[in-house]
Amino acid sequence: MIGRLNHVAIAVPDLEAAIDLYRNTLGAKVGAPQDEPDHGVTVVFITLPNTKIELLFPLGADSPIAGFLAKNPAGGIHHICYEVDDILAARDQLKDAGARILGTGEPKIGAHGKPVLFLHPKDFTGTLVELEQV
Ligand code: CO
Repeated sequence: MIGRLNHVAIAVPDLEAAIDLYRNTLGAKVGAPQDEPDHGVTVVFITLPNTKIELLFPLGADSPIAGFLAKNPAGGIHHICYEVDDILAARDQLKDAGARILGTGEPKIGAHGKPVLFLHPKDFTGTLVELEQV
């Protein structure tokens, strides 16, 4: 069902420091910060030859990233995103298998303008999993 790794998302407590680290220390191609008010995050995309890294920084008062950073003050891997061809078919198959879908269970439009869903980390070896239809 799952295809390519679309991105690894890393929550960071200091966005400018993280941009500097990836751009200047690691020598990666780092994009401009994008505010995503619907998701409560500012996102920076880093393009690697085989996948992307997404830096996530809290945006707004009730950002879903704020609690994660409170528990992980240095930042950390927040989720991984796998590509699927048909997000509704993937959702229904996973629900039938007993997996929990976060939120309403309906896809939202994600940071790349494509439908996304998040799966409960307790059902996926402690990892928050995002599915993106490509
Ligand atoms: Co993501």
